[in-house]
Amino acid sequence: MIDKTRTLLVTTALSYANGAIHLGHLLEQIQADIWVRFQRLQGHRVLFISGDDTHGAPVMLQAERLGVTPEQLIAQMQAEHQRDFKAFSISFDHYHTTHSPENQQLLETIYHRLQQQGVITSQTIEQLYDPQQQQFLSDRFIQGHCPRCEAADQYGDHCEQCGATYEATELRHPHSTLTGAVPVLRQSDHFFFDLPAFSDWLQIWTRSGSLPDTMVNKLQEWFHCGLKPWDITRDAPYFGFAIPDAPDQYFYVWLDAPIGYMAICQHFCQQQPTLSFEQLWSPESTAELYHFIGKDIVYFHSLFWPAVLKSAGFRLPTKIFVHGFVTVNGAKMSKSRGTFITAHTYLQHCDADYLRYYYAAKTMATIEDLDLHLEDFRQRVNSDLVNKIVNLAARCASFIQQQFDHQLAATLFDPPLYQIFMDAEPLIAEAYNSRDCAKAIRQIQQLADRANAFIDQQTPWQLAKQPEQRERLHAVCSLGIHCFRLLMIYLKPVVPSLVQRAEGFLNEELTWTAIHQPPLLNHRLNPFTPLLRRLEPGQIKAILAESASGSVVTTAPTPPPAAADSSAYEPQATPITLDDFSRVDLRVARILQADLVPGADKLLKLQLDVGAGETRQVFAGIKSAYPPEALEGRLTIMVANLAPRKMRFGISEGMVLAAGAGGSEIFLLQPDSGAQPGMRVK
Ligand code: MSP
Ligand code: ZN
Repeated sequence: MIDKTRTLLVTTALSYANGAIHLGHLLEQIQADIWVRFQRLQGHRVLFISGDDTHGAPVMLQAERLGVTPEQLIAQMQAEHQRDFKAFSISFDHYHTTHSPENQQLLETIYHRLQQQGVITSQTIEQLYDPQQQQFLSDRFIQGHCPRCEAADQYGDHCEQCGATYEATELRHPHSTLTGAVPVLRQSDHFFFDLPAFSDWLQIWTRSGSLPDTMVNKLQEWFHCGLKPWDITRDAPYFGFAIPDAPDQYFYVWLDAPIGYMAICQHFCQQQPTLSFEQLWSPESTAELYHFIGKDIVYFHSLFWPAVLKSAGFRLPTKIFVHGFVTVNGAKMSKSRGTFITAHTYLQHCDADYLRYYYAAKTMATIEDLDLHLEDFRQRVNSDLVNKIVNLAARCASFIQQQFDHQLAATLFDPPLYQIFMDAEPLIAEAYNSRDCAKAIRQIQQLADRANAFIDQQTPWQLAKQPEQRERLHAVCSLGIHCFRLLMIYLKPVVPSLVQRAEGFLNEELTWTAIHQPPLLNHRLNPFTPLLRRLEPGQIKAILAESASGSVVTTAPTPPPAAADSSAYEPQATPITLDDFSRVDLRVARILQADLVPGADKLLKLQLDVGAGETRQVFAGIKSAYPPEALEGRLTIMVANLAPRKMRFGISEGMVLAAGAGGSEIFLLQPDSGAQPGMRVK
């Protein structure tokens, strides 16, 4: 039973404002968005919020490098981040920034409450100071020799040569990267948050189901080593919020960043008369709070953040969902390999739904890393989404459209089959709810296989040739569409743009409750248009090339092979490379219709189903060997990227392949049974 009173406040980690969104960031956004869309489909009230994390040294440095103010930089980054998330259909209710008056005010309120609770202490610490520039130096402004391996030019926190981590004061022969001066030690009073005071409480809270079990074990190590007071002060220059009554000192970005979740929520509530910020964040709140984060920021979210909330008198997170890291082709994303792929570069060449689908298919609610293996990605998208799912609709739509005036049949052909599609609902819902999207996708693919097998058995292309089977043809194709419709509902959280196009075709807005309602009998469809294109190798290549070069490469369409007559002058067996061969896009196609061409003695006009809902018209010189009726329904192989040719009788959009000498000796190539239109021949 759906409990409609639930309100879910969902956040994703706030993206740093010093860099572009990349495919790693998108894993979290997509996982969260799928969950959010699923919860909304269940009828829950969801507030999905996020924003930019704007403060800290890196933003300041980056702005300096670019010769702009930090405010200008963060405004531009926020616009870019929002553009990218929108293009990936991340359905935030509100996206804002930590650099806001709401955040500053909440931060100060919380800071005062922490002071009142006696959990802010002051300690004098020694830091390196540049006497020439007259400022304290953060780790990034100090270089020297590694205290362990003596490697030169290492930064103040760790050695890139040997991996050692150390305090900046341990560096040998240190110098300031600002002036080259030798830094001196200087004292400064810093404020600390008394994390150890929360140790017992945190041990209980973190084990109360708010964190994944695997994380709880990891936390035991931290508790075992003992929690340390947390330095929340940074000395000027710093881009952030000033600490009241502490001249030239700022709050550390990691204090104001999670408070940003609250501030962004507050900013949203101000625009929503039915929402109360105070209620949402009060300890008695009946709303649920979920944070999606990566495994690298667990410490902040599972220790500092709950302790701060608790002592400031606010509600606690219901659950913290932790994911692993994205690797590309089995390795960390790398600029030199071209696998550091930004959202923007990806979108120049690929549909966002491809990535959403792939991440979903590999998401299992664990903190394991997820490998985006690009060739596997391409094949999976093509075989699952295009060949099985979109193609199911395409196979049926053409008949409904042409022979039944877009109208679905009045009766349900095979109720037990449809029942199987309905019965899968609880399992799929439970998989989404527990964020095991991979399981949901497996179920959905099994259903798609069943529907395709049904169509294969029923052979609508055969039925279409027998007038007495007209009713059966109608019912069979209608059932195919009913099945497709349920698949689209099940996939609605994952591939929203594809489903939106399908809704256009189905002439209906899809809802989760429709699963258990009668199918669309006697319903009128809209004209079918191709719903999703295949993902071609060239698109992946272009992404890698552009990511490696850092410049924009446009995906040029594959050049058409040289015209046949020019090759007539070449020696017959000129060897070609594999690359040459792969430029020829050979595909399985189904001959939907074959017609004589008035006025042509050798040609037949073929309508080919080339997968993904696309049909092509091709003229083939095979009339001498085949009566048209003999061809309908059978599979063949075609050259799919032959440039369209204008012929006397119309345009030919490709070429079918045949062997033989001509006349009655023409043998049309045909794949083994089981092949599907759109499959690539390699
Ligand atoms: N600004 C902080 C979060 C503050 S939340 C109060 C931050 N920002 S980030 O831009 O570096 O990362 C945002 C999210 O993306 C984090 O959850 C992080 O784990 C995630 N990822 C960053 N790189 C990633 C991969 N390569 N793979 C998967 N997730 C990754 O951290
Ligand atoms: Zn070293």
